[in-house]
Amino acid sequence: MQSVLDNRPSLKAEIDKVAEVALYLWQKGWAERNGGNITINITEFVDDGMRSMLAITEPRPIGTTLPHLKGTWFYCKGTNRRMRDLARYPMDNGSIIRILPDCAHYEIVADKPVAPTSELPSHLGVHNYLIAKGSPYKASVHTHPIELVAMTHSKHFMEKDVATNLLWSMIPETKAFCPRGLGMVPYMLPSSVELGEATIRTIDEGYDVVMWEKHGVFAVDTDVMAAFDQIDVLNKSALIYIAAKGMGFEPDGMTAAQMQEMSVAFHLPK
Ligand code: 13P
Ligand code: ZN
Repeated sequence: MQSVLDNRPSLKAEIDKVAEVALYLWQKGWAERNGGNITINITEFVDDGMRSMLAITEPRPIGTTLPHLKGTWFYCKGTNRRMRDLARYPMDNGSIIRILPDCAHYEIVADKPVAPTSELPSHLGVHNYLIAKGSPYKASVHTHPIELVAMTHSKHFMEKDVATNLLWSMIPETKAFCPRGLGMVPYMLPSSVELGEATIRTIDEGYDVVMWEKHGVFAVDTDVMAAFDQIDVLNKSALIYIAAKGMGFEPDGMTAAQMQEMSVAFHLPK
């Protein structure tokens, strides 16, 4: 079976990274059934051969109009597809779409007519925002990390930057490698345009990683591996917190002065 990835090594390398991250999400227990989704902006890898390809589906509505997505292309996890299957067969469990000139519809171009994730409004809305800002970020990852989701069942941790400061204080690397912290979005219906809009507002407040209350996390970064890393360091901190609580004590956490010292030494934004 021919694939659009044949003879396109740079594009294939990006899709391979998505497959690698999908395996990690499954191995971590963050991707039950079809849980989670990944999209990447692949426009920079699109050549004339791809541009001349016919669509394999009719145009479908995005559900909103996203003017900055004119001429852009994305790889998207398929809705109802498993991360553990995508890890082995990324082009059977995801597809490549292009945005139509009206910026309100997309069509699937390759390899198979796998309908994109139900969280497409959040993913494409965020990509539209990132392009408008001139951001170098190309990847967005939504997943269900157990310990971070558990924290959102506490009203206290849903308050602005309470979880951020706690998680940063568990181990220095978390502030270094998730330097913008964890934004919080109150519970909203999965896959809704409102959830997408709230996610964009929270990213715009200065976060790369956004928590969806009682649901999951949504992270953006330059590529899929970097987005995964930000979630991974945050969840590591949550595990350290839980380990300390399990040993029967409230962890002290690094002091405010120690965290400030990190910001200065590593030129962190916060
Ligand atoms: P999809 O299978 O449509 O990607 O949905 C998974 C999910 O996690 C929804 O929030
Ligand atoms: Zn989800």
